This record gives sequence, structure tokens and C-alpha cells, in this order.
Amino acid sequence: MAEIGKDIVRAIKLLEAGELVGIPTETVYGLAGNALNATAITKIFVAKNRPYFDPLIVHVPSIQQAERYVESVPEKALILSSLFWPGPLTMVLTKKKIIPDLATAGLDTVGIRCPRHPLALEVLQKLDFPLAAPSANPFGYVSPTRPEHVNEQIGDKISYILDGGPCPVGIESTIVGFEDHQTVVYRLGGLSIENIESALGKVTIQSHSTANPKAPGQLKSHYAPRKWLVLGNIGQLLKTYGQVPVGILSFSKSFQEIEKRNQIVLSPSGNLEEAARNLFSGLRELDKMEVTVILAEEVPDMGIGKAINDRLRRAAVQP
Ligand code: TXA
Ligand code: MG
Repeated sequence: MAEIGKDIVRAIKLLEAGELVGIPTETVYGLAGNALNATAITKIFVAKNRPYFDPLIVHVPSIQQAERYVESVPEKALILSSLFWPGPLTMVLTKKKIIPDLATAGLDTVGIRCPRHPLALEVLQKLDFPLAAPSANPFGYVSPTRPEHVNEQIGDKISYILDGGPCPVGIESTIVGFEDHQTVVYRLGGLSIENIESALGKVTIQSHSTANPKAPGQLKSHYAPRKWLVLGNIGQLLKTYGQVPVGILSFSKSFQEIEKRNQIVLSPSGNLEEAARNLFSGLRELDKMEVTVILAEEVPDMGIGKAINDRLRRAAVQP
């Protein structure tokens, strides 16, 4: 198992030595390594059991630092970075040669992001290289939002996890690109579409294509727990699944007919930010319960609720 602690100096030494460290970000925990070092990048793919066609996000401490790694920063990207960086926004930009092809799966673009978590920012500011950091989970499983989640799943592959507490956003960054002057959203995430549109006007959302996905976070099964998850009206579903042991993942209500310990209520007060924060840990808890099927419902489709619903739909089995 890895050690969990708050020793930034130790984390920095490991990263400088080309080793991997679990790091907190405001969205989810990342599995970080030197983005300019092909050996460190290879270690990330191996530890995650991640296919090499799935490019990594590169983390920087500021837009000024991002400019060292991308050919140019378009006007729209500049606007978004000034409003939403540091924060849960990844921008896909044309990369410079200094970023190894391995990190971007051979693409000539790189996904680049400045995270808002104070520990992540401090580490990035103290390093003289950027950090490649995918979510710190095995490929295809739910992202970790607490240091213990990282330890449970890949603790045998790394020696240290920097403890930044539970992730305050809880859902991965929104990924945005700029194609022919159009703003395209490749993955719904922690920064809402409404926020992006208030800055740039109408955007195109492309996060549902499954054929040859530009962002494999788009693959349907990408956020799946190991148990069956059925999405719909929970009250109705209970009539069908009432005979088997079920777990419930609801937005704000609980259901009397089901034992309390088998229910996760994402936000009893109906707050979408709180629901996002609790989503992935809720899915993990349900996976560990002695239930056969998880019954879940969508949340209001606005703000970060859109990203929550996106993850729920991908986690669900097809009816
Ligand atoms: O919130 C986050 O973004 C977290 C934290 C750790 O920063 N990271 C994260 O990384 O979610 P990962 O590797 O789990 O997801 C990265 C997604 C992938 O689906 C990948 O395909 C997409 O970003 N991506 C990376 N580079 C890209 C590029 N050049 N073009 C299109 N998509 C890209
Ligand atoms: Mg991921």
C-alpha cells in the first residue's frame, strides 16, 4: 500500500526522480508524473492499465506556463483561462514538440489544465516541469475523490499519495477545444456549460459520440461501477426490482420501502454541487453493499447536474 500524507517535499522529490505520486485536485485525485519524461508517462499507462490511444491531461500552474507547451493560445482560450483558471477546465490546444507524443497518444494537440486545489498548485509551482495526471483509478472504473480511494485501487503501484482531503468538486474537468472558431465541449465536467456560454456564446457539445472518440472519457461504459446500475424513476423501478436486494442512488429523497443503509442520497437539500461531490464515493459505497442491483435517478439537468447525468448514463446498463 502507498503512504498517505501531507509531505509536499517528499511528493516533489519523488516526481523529480521520475516516480508517480497520487495528488489531490479540486475535481478528482490524479496519478501524477513528469509530463516531459517518457519513462514517467509509461509508468502512468502501466499503473492504470490504460490503453496507449487515450491521451493524458497535462497540468500547469498558470496560463503563462501553459504557453511553454502549446504553439499558441487562441483568443477564446485566453478568455476562458482568465475567467476559470485555476479551475475544472481542460483546454485542448496545439502542442509543442517538448510534450512527448506518448503523453498525447500521437495527437498534435494536448489537453492542458490549471487545477485549483491549493496542494496541487503548490506542487506545480515548485516543479520546473508540468504534470501529466489522469484520474488515479484503473482504466474504466469510477474516479477517486478521496486519498483512500486511490490507495484501494492503485496503492500497490505507487509509494506516496498526497492528502488533500475530499475533492471539493467531485467530478472531472470539463474538456473544451476550438475547431474552426467554434467552441466544442468534448467532456461535460466540473465547469458548467452555462459558465462557458456566458463567456463565449453558444458551444457545441460532442461528448456523446462513441465512434472513434476524441476523448475516451466519452466511451459509454467509462464510469461504470462493477454492479448493475439501472437509471430511471426509482419509484417505478422498485416495482420491477422489488424482489431482489437493491441499493438506491437518489438525488434528494429517500425511499421508505428500502433499508436506510442501502441508500445513498446525494444531496438531501437538493444542491447539485453537493450531489457532484458525493457521486463517485456514493457509487463506490453502493458497489460494496450486499445488493444485486443499483437503482438510480437523474438529477435536474442544469449546471453541474448535466455532468452528473452524463456520468450516470455512462454507468447505467442499457434497458
Ligand atoms: O479533472 C480532471 O481532468 C482529472 C484531474 C486529475 O485533473 N483528470 C482526468 O484525466 O480526468 P483522465 O485521463 O482520466 O481523462 C482525460 C480525458 C481523456 O478522456 C482523454 O481522452 C482526454 O482527456 N484528452 C486528453 N488529451 C486530449 C486531446 N489532446 N484531445 C482530446 N481529448 C483529450
Ligand atoms: Mg479518468
